[in-house]
Amino acid sequence: MNPKIAAYLRDHAPATPCLVLDVDRVEQNYRRLMAAMPLARVYYAVKANPAAPILDRLTALGSSFDAASWEEIEACLAAGARPADISFGNTVKKVSAIKAAHAAGVTMYAFDSEPELKKLAQHAPGARVYCRILVENKGAEWPLSRKFGCEMGMAKALMVKAAEWGLDPYGISFHVGSQQTQTGAYQAAIARVAMLFTDLRQAGVNLRMVNLGGGYPVRYRAEVPEIDAFGDAIMGAMAEHFGNALPEMVIEPGRFMVGDAGVVSSEVVLVSRKGEDDPVRWVYLDIGRFGGLAETEGEAIRYAFRTPHDGGAEGPVTIAGPTCDSTDTLYEKSNYRLPLALDCGDRVELIATGAYVTTYASQAFNGFKPLAEHYI
Ligand SMILES: Cc1ncc(COP(=O)(O)O)c(C=O)c1O
Repeated sequence: MNPKIAAYLRDHAPATPCLVLDVDRVEQNYRRLMAAMPLARVYYAVKANPAAPILDRLTALGSSFDAASWEEIEACLAAGARPADISFGNTVKKVSAIKAAHAAGVTMYAFDSEPELKKLAQHAPGARVYCRILVENKGAEWPLSRKFGCEMGMAKALMVKAAEWGLDPYGISFHVGSQQTQTGAYQAAIARVAMLFTDLRQAGVNLRMVNLGGGYPVRYRAEVPEIDAFGDAIMGAMAEHFGNALPEMVIEPGRFMVGDAGVVSSEVVLVSRKGEDDPVRWVYLDIGRFGGLAETEGEAIRYAFRTPHDGGAEGPVTIAGPTCDSTDTLYEKSNYRLPLALDCGDRVELIATGAYVTTYASQAFNGFKPLAEHYI
């Protein structure tokens, strides 16, 4: 466990459930990414954790930002980010949000459909636009499916149209799915982007930017490749397909930047069994699916747990949250085992929970308050 967070939990024993996040670790992660991909510009995916201390630190470091909404753009501006360093990366935007962003000076926008491109042409004239293409999400533990992106032929036609409509056809983006564990996913996607660059050049449109999205993984229960392996694979593929004519490179890391910087501290509310001889104990925590652990849906993201009894004899468990909703069961099939000594009132820490937790927490489902947050 991160020693700074361990010391904070020991010295302050903050009320649970809460997230404690080490902002220095976010800075280290930013630097690790820059070292792994020195030619890429980092646009932090604000949705992963939009807390002001994180945005303030990243702004001071010179990071750029990928925002999903006008509200996230406002948060970046409040942190001192320049509008020119913010990308409005959601391909589904309200007209009012586009107008507000354009008026604030944001010049870079994503799209993946003709109606969205039309909105941009009308309400953000002259903007730099990039088209998101569909790519394979195999290897991602939290895939982003077909919700975003369009097919290659459509992307080509829309980029030609973007130029005709007075927009600046800036580049192509993709997202290989979050918690992507295979470096090859980026290599395959880059090959597709390169084909589009060539096709569009022949059509008279010279793109200048490749946005490689997010996806860079965090170590939860299982090992994942180091960030340098992703950097090597990506730079190798870029050199292979673009040679000396490398376009600008953008990356939009979310999970990697903040995931391992945070720990959720929770309390065991109940340990019980469904029958006298049932070997499986049910462990109910004071945080669950509705308290912020939404990525346990389908047991997709499997967090690691620390308890005061680690090292002692263990047995199989089902782990659940505190609400009266049966979907508030975190892990039933992923072979979790916890110490037999675990009991009501024990504190349990969920490691590497700095990403996609706080903003997923419901306001008051079953009366429970949203997750408390401590940035140290
Ligand atoms: C457009 C976009 N960029 C970046 C990210 C961040 O992805 P990750 O947290 O996997 O790095 C997301 C996540 O949903 C996204 O939708």
